[in-house]
Amino acid sequence: MDDRAPPPGVDPLTPSVARMYDYFLGGTENFAVDREAADIILAVSPDARVLARANRDFLGRVVRHLAQSGVRQFLDIGAGLPTQDNVHDVALRNAPDARVAYVDNDPMVLVHATALLADNPSTLVMAGDVRDPLSILCDPDLCRHLDFDEPVAVLLLSVLHFIVDDDEAAWIAAEFAEGLPLGGYLAISHITPGPLSPDTLNYGRAVYERSTSQGLAFRKPEAIAKYFAGFDLLPPGIVPVNDWRPDDPAAQERSRAPDGSVGVGAVGRKTAR
Ligand SMILES: C[S@@+](CC[C@H](N)C(=O)[O-])C[C@H]1O[C@@H](n2cnc3c(N)ncnc32)[C@H](O)[C@@H]1O
Repeated sequence: MDDRAPPPGVDPLTPSVARMYDYFLGGTENFAVDREAADIILAVSPDARVLARANRDFLGRVVRHLAQSGVRQFLDIGAGLPTQDNVHDVALRNAPDARVAYVDNDPMVLVHATALLADNPSTLVMAGDVRDPLSILCDPDLCRHLDFDEPVAVLLLSVLHFIVDDDEAAWIAAEFAEGLPLGGYLAISHITPGPLSPDTLNYGRAVYERSTSQGLAFRKPEAIAKYFAGFDLLPPGIVPVNDWRPDDPAAQERSRAPDGSVGVGAVGRKTAR
């Protein structure tokens, strides 16, 4: 990207969490400032690339499972830059009548996703901030695209850890849960402290404090479990993302980062209001 003019609204001088994640995943939609920030993370946590890939693979298995279970509507918040096997790719492969809405607050994500999906009637791309659930859930375009009287899966994958305040993160999860009909699904992935040393955690926080997210929160699985109040967790519950219904347990094990317990994920089905 460095020799091209940044798209309108894109700040090439502040590390963007979306572009850093793209770099971790081996993408090219990132600037020097993103790579420098990501390289600092890699210096203290060399597994960051493996964890990003493991999170992405978790996303694929979750969407495939839900589509195969009959879910036809996906609301992906903090969607990220388009890469391989995006939510709509997996959903449509398994359920050609699926509909997907992508929401992000990063202008680069919106430019790329809109360009990629402009002619795809199964998808909607919209600007939105996870901190303002009601303006997302009540958006007229979203409500035309998804029918909230039918099962919807809300995906909050690798986004809630950018909300540093614990109460705010819990409130956001509760608001999206409230917006779901009974039988709807909530999927979350989130970083945890795992076995990382306090120095490494502080280093990571400091890097993200200078990024577009202005911070990073490592939360324990017990805290993330509370986001699923009123939901039945699908087996195996809240586990390292690698351990959520792996396709090939042996391969998953081989690709496991030494600090593989750092990223956890879960999927719940709403059973109570
Ligand atoms: C680490 S990426 C995760 C992408 C994708 N969900 C995944 O799991 O592969 C985090 C994404 O969340 C977005 N994000 C961060 N804070 C956000 C906010 N307050 N509102 C909406 N999106 C946000 C970033 O722009 C980025 O695209």
